[in-house]
Amino acid sequence: RALLVTLSLLQYTHGNIRVNSGVSNYSFPDDFIFGVASAAFQIEGAWDEGGKGESMWDTYIHKHPNYTVDRSNGDVAADSYHRFMDDIEMIKTVGVNYYRLSISWPRLLPNGTDNNISQEGMQYYRTLFEELLKANITPVVTLFHWDMPTPLMDLGGWANPKIVDYFEDYARVVFNLYGDIIKMWTTINEPHQQCYNGYGRDYFVPALMSGGIGDYLCTHYTLLSHARVYRMYEKEFKPYQKGKVAITLDAFWADPKNPNNPEDVRAAEDYLQMHLAIYAHPIYSDVGDYPNFVRERVNNMSLQQGFLRSRLPYFSKEEIKALQGSSDFFALNHYTTFLMTPSSMEPDWQVPSWDQDTGVRMSQNLSWPRPGADWLTVNPPGFRKVINWISNNYRMLKKIPIIITENGMADWGQTDDYDRVAYYNEYLNQVLLAIHEDGCNVKGYFSWTLMDDFEWIDGYSVKFGLFKVDFDDPEKKRTPKLSAHSFGNIARTHRIDF
Ligand code: NOJ
Repeated sequence: RALLVTLSLLQYTHGNIRVNSGVSNYSFPDDFIFGVASAAFQIEGAWDEGGKGESMWDTYIHKHPNYTVDRSNGDVAADSYHRFMDDIEMIKTVGVNYYRLSISWPRLLPNGTDNNISQEGMQYYRTLFEELLKANITPVVTLFHWDMPTPLMDLGGWANPKIVDYFEDYARVVFNLYGDIIKMWTTINEPHQQCYNGYGRDYFVPALMSGGIGDYLCTHYTLLSHARVYRMYEKEFKPYQKGKVAITLDAFWADPKNPNNPEDVRAAEDYLQMHLAIYAHPIYSDVGDYPNFVRERVNNMSLQQGFLRSRLPYFSKEEIKALQGSSDFFALNHYTTFLMTPSSMEPDWQVPSWDQDTGVRMSQNLSWPRPGADWLTVNPPGFRKVINWISNNYRMLKKIPIIITENGMADWGQTDDYDRVAYYNEYLNQVLLAIHEDGCNVKGYFSWTLMDDFEWIDGYSVKFGLFKVDFDDPEKKRTPKLSAHSFGNIARTHRIDF
C-alpha cells in the first residue's frame, strides 16, 4: 500500500501523461481476466535451434541487415526459448493468471507443411504450456503472430489462395498436440498490420509494396484462413476440447481532425470502414461479407486505375457462410488515435500518412504525449470510443465478449517508467467507463508486453515491456519496472488506484 501511494505520487510528479479521465470508483467485474502478452519471434531467439525452419523475418533481415532501425535481428532476442522459466517467474511477480503467447509456425513445422513436424519444437511448447499451468497461469495461444515459414512466403504467403489449406493443416497439428490443455485460441494476429504494412508497403516484412493488390489478397486469404480454421475446430475439436477461437484485430481510433467539420467526421468513419470493418464486418456483421462502402470504394478505385477487375476479391456463398459468426470473442488490440481529414493528393505508396483508397490523410495530435514510438501518441479516450464503436456496430457483440488482447505503451526503456504506469491507469480506466457507463461487454485485458523485445522494424530501440531485458547481458537479465507492480496491482485488486 505504501509503495502504491508513493508510486502514484511519483507518477504525478514525474510522469508526462496527464489526462483528465477522473479517478474511477468502478471496479472490474469478478469474471474479468487479466494477463500479459508476447509473441514468439519477438522473444524466443534460437532462430536455428532444435530443427527450427526459417520464418520470413529471419530470412528477410539476414538478407537486409539495414531493414531494422538499429540493424538488429531476432536471432537471440530475449532468449525465451532457453529462459522461459524466467518468463514464468516474471508473470508470477506481476500476479496475473493469463499469458497470451504465440507458437512459431516454423519451429513446429520447419518447412511450413505437416509432412515434417519437429520433435524438439513440439516438446518445447508442450513443456512451456505445462509449466505455465503448473504455475496456475492459463496460456492463451496465437497460431500466427507474423512469422510466416519462409518456404510458404516464397509461394506468396497470405496472398496465395493455397495458404488457406496450409494454415488449416498447421492448425490441425496444433489442436491435436495441445488442444487437451489449451482452451483459448486466436488464429491470426493483426491481419490489418500484416497485410497493409507488409504486403502493401514495406513497414513490415515481407515488405512487398505491391501497390494495393497484394494487401487485399492478403486480407482476403487471411479472412478465409481464419474462417476455415474456426469451422475445422468447431467440427473436429470443439465437441470434446471445448475451447474458444477468435481472430485478433487491431484498431487505431480515428478522430476527425476538426470535429466541427463534417468532412473530417466522414473521413474518420471512412477510415474505420476501410481498415477495421474490412476485417470485422465479414465475421461479426449479419452479412458475412465486406462492408458495402469498402466494396464500392475499392471497385471504383480499381476501375479508375484501369484495372478490369476489382483489386478486392469476392467471397463465394459458402465462404460467406463460413465467415459469418466465426469468432467466440472479439479479440482487440489497441494502442493509439490518429486524426483524419480528406485528401485529394495523388496516390503515392511512399507517403505513410496518405491512405489512397480511403482518400484520407492521417496525422497525429502532437499535443498528446508520445513517450517512445513515433506512431504512438497517448489518447486514453480513444480506447473507450473504439470499444463503443465495435459494440454498437455489431449485434453479435451482445452475445460474445470483447477481450483486449493487447494494449500498452512504448518508451526508451527506463525502469522507473512513470509514463507507463499512468498509461495503464488511464487506458484501463477507459475500459471501466466503457463497461459501467456504456454497457460494453469487455471481459479481459492483456498488457503488451511482458518484457522488452524485438519490436519489428524498430528492433530493440523502443520498449514496451513491464520488465526490462538487458540485451547486452548473455544471461538476458530481466528487471521489473514500476509498471510491473502497478499493473499487477490493478489485476489483483480489480481496481485502479490512481
Ligand atoms: C502489435 C503487435 O501485435 C505486436 O507484435 C507489437 O509488438 C505491438 N503491436 C507494438 O507495436
